[in-house]
Parts: sequence; structure tokens; C-alpha cells
Amino acid sequence: MRLSHLSLTYFRNYARLELNLPPGVIVLYGNNAQGKTSLLEAVYYLATSRALHATSDRQLINWLAKDDPIPHARLVGEAETQQGKKRIELTLLTEKTARGSRLKKEIRINGISRRVMDLLGHMTVVLFLPQDLALVEGSPSLRRRYLNITLCQTDPDYCRAVNQYEKVLSQRNALLRQFQEQGGRGDRSLLTFWDEQLAQHGATVVAGRYRFIRELEREAREIQRDLSGEHETLRLRYQPGFDAAAATDGQMSFDVADMGVSTLPQLPPKEITKRFVAALHACVSRDIARGMTTIGPQRDELRLLVNGHDLGLYGSRGQNRTGVLALKLAELAWMREKTGEWPILLLDEVAAELDHYRRSYLLERIGQAEQVILTTTEPDLLPAETLVDATRWRVTDGTIDTALAS
Ligand SMILES: Nc1ncnc2c1ncn2[C@@H]1O[C@H](COP(=O)(O)OP(=O)(O)O)[C@@H](O)[C@H]1O
Ligand SMILES: [Mg+2]
Repeated sequence: MRLSHLSLTYFRNYARLELNLPPGVIVLYGNNAQGKTSLLEAVYYLATSRALHATSDRQLINWLAKDDPIPHARLVGEAETQQGKKRIELTLLTEKTARGSRLKKEIRINGISRRVMDLLGHMTVVLFLPQDLALVEGSPSLRRRYLNITLCQTDPDYCRAVNQYEKVLSQRNALLRQFQEQGGRGDRSLLTFWDEQLAQHGATVVAGRYRFIRELEREAREIQRDLSGEHETLRLRYQPGFDAAAATDGQMSFDVADMGVSTLPQLPPKEITKRFVAALHACVSRDIARGMTTIGPQRDELRLLVNGHDLGLYGSRGQNRTGVLALKLAELAWMREKTGEWPILLLDEVAAELDHYRRSYLLERIGQAEQVILTTTEPDLLPAETLVDATRWRVTDGTIDTALAS
């Protein structure tokens, strides 16, 4: 798949941009703070409706639009995919309300209004960022976000379930806080409805993550072995916040690769749901005391292990970089297999981030991709093979000069 046209209005430091994009490798180069990463973010946003790392959607709207009556940003992408042409229009509006302002997203796909959730899967992307290192070294919420964004791009059922789960979870938590404030008194049967709902959506989320991590591990293990000269074995350990396969207290973990430990894959969704409900019942007093739901996928954790040692705890910088690269390349292979086509690849500053060997390995693996958009402050650091047929555009202060050949 590839992006053939991109149009931006008031997105980050792009006041206005109309860009036709060719297939193959596109190198965006230029000094710092010119808009290279912002362009990748625009493509990523069209695919996922998510900003990069922890930034809020509001930050995406150009500062110049701040004083407009209705400040807004608009992105339009046209993609060529195996399912035909896709035109994705996304508008971000800040609406004034009595208590300040509210952000609204409007989405059209091929001219038809859609919900935000329906955006995912139309345009698939895999993004490599210097900040990816935080996937190994950062908080568990980053890894859950990673699981959600990747899975949502290919699995609509998962996406629906995870969205519903979050809604139901906040309802249940609100009710738990009420009980907490009443010193534990109140009609606990009110929870039954939410427990059922939570368990049902939660079961889909848990099963989806389990399957994904297992498949991802298979790919990532081989890549890590290549990258480390056969020295390192990478494993992904899923630690579910509710472990349907173990006891009902939800605190046990299991290794995804170790099929003997977990019976989760054999469990039908109905059975997972049943066990989840039972576990919620079993910990209701604790949940009320804390005013929140203490088991479930909102507490899931994914750990990366090399030769049995947890990378987040013991890995060297270099090992962690290799681990993250293996994970991202595995994601790419996984996505190709699921969708039957190359996603659009977005590579931010990989030349500066990776050493020569890892960089060459990465660029070789993605050599056949339909479209790669990569940014760099120093194009000379890229291998000659990558540059030879590449389109090179200079980015300066929110404009892209497509006339310059080099
Ligand atoms: N909402 C916004 N409106 C205008 N400019 C912004 C906005 N958000 C970020 N910027 C600015 O855009 C510039 C480009 O950022 P970035 O794309 O990260 O640069 P690069 O990747 O080329 O180093 C930065 O100077 C940043 O401060
Ligand atoms: Mg940048």
C-alpha cells in the first residue's frame, strides 16, 4: 500500500501543504525543527487517529489557527491499496463550550462520514521512532498502547472490544467509588451488569493480545537471532492482569512460548468470560476498598526477555535497541501476513539512532516495501543502495521542496 497524495491544513507547523508522493523510498531531510517528524505524524494520524507518543490531539493544530473562531486542522490522504483507492479525510475541531473548549474529530472515508474507530485498518502503517526505546524501558501503559494500536489496525473485533472495555471499565469504576464513599454499603447487585459486560469485552481483548504476542514472538525471535549473531534469544512474556488460564486471583503470569504453562489458547471465549466474571466477584470487596477495578487487561504487562533476562531491568542500551528493532520488524512481518500487503513504513531518524549494522539490516529487510518515508538530518549517513533510487525532498520551516533533487 502507498500514500499517493497528502494535503494538510494547519497541522503542526504546516499551515498548508499539497503533496504528491511517489512509490519507493522518500527521504525527507533538513535541519532540526523544520517539520520532518510532523509529516510522518500526519501520515500516522491518518492511519490511526493517534498522535505520536503522549501528545494530545490539541497540540496537532497549528498555533496560527489558535485565534480562529473555530480552530481546526485538516488532513486528507489518498492511498492506493489492494482493496482499491482510499480517501481519508480527518478534521480536528476545537469547539467552544460553556466550560472552555472541546476537541472533536470528524472522519470521512471515501466521502462517507465514519466513527473514529472505523478509521483503523484502511491505511496501515508501521512507525519506527527513536522514542521506541521506551517500549522496553518505559512504563507498562506504553506497551499496552502499542498492543492496542497494532492490533486495532488489523482486527476490528479487537478494536471494538477494547473501546467498549474502556467505557465499561470507567462506568464500573465510578460505581465502585460510590460504594467506597458510602463505606462499602449499597446494592452490590448493581455491579452485575457491568461485570458481565466487562468480562465479555475483556475476554476478546485478552484472547487477541495473547494470540498477537505469540505470533509476534515467533517473528521477533528469529530477527533478534540474526541481529545478535545467533547469541541472543528473545522472548515476549505476556503477564495478563487477569489470567484466565491460571487461578481466579488474576495475578499469575505465564510465558507465551511455554504452551505447557497456559491453557488460554484452548479456552473458548465463553469460558474466559465466565472465569472473568467469577474473578470480578471474588475481588469485589478489594475493588470497593480501592475504588477501582483491580483485575483485567488495563493491568496487562508485556516484558521482553533476552536469554531469560528481562531487558527492561537488565538490558544494555545496545541490547534494548536490538530488542526494539526486532519487535518493530516483527510487527511489520506480522502485519504483512495479516493484511497481505506491505504497510506504509515511516522511519524517523533511524540513521542517527542505529549503528551501521542494524541500520543496514533494517533497510535491507524493508527494501521491497511499496513505500518508505524516512527522515534524517544527515542523508549521507544512509547507505548508498537506499539513496540511489530514492526521492529526496528538503524540509524547511513547514514547507517541502519537491523541486530540489538533492
Ligand atoms: N501545533 C503546532 N503549531 C505550529 N508549530 C508546531 C506545532 N507543534 C509543533 N510545532 C513546531 O513544529 C516544528 C517542527 O517539528 P518537527 O516536525 O518535530 O521537526 P523535525 O522533525 O524536522 O526536527 C518545531 O519547531 C515545533 O516546535
Ligand atoms: Mg524530528
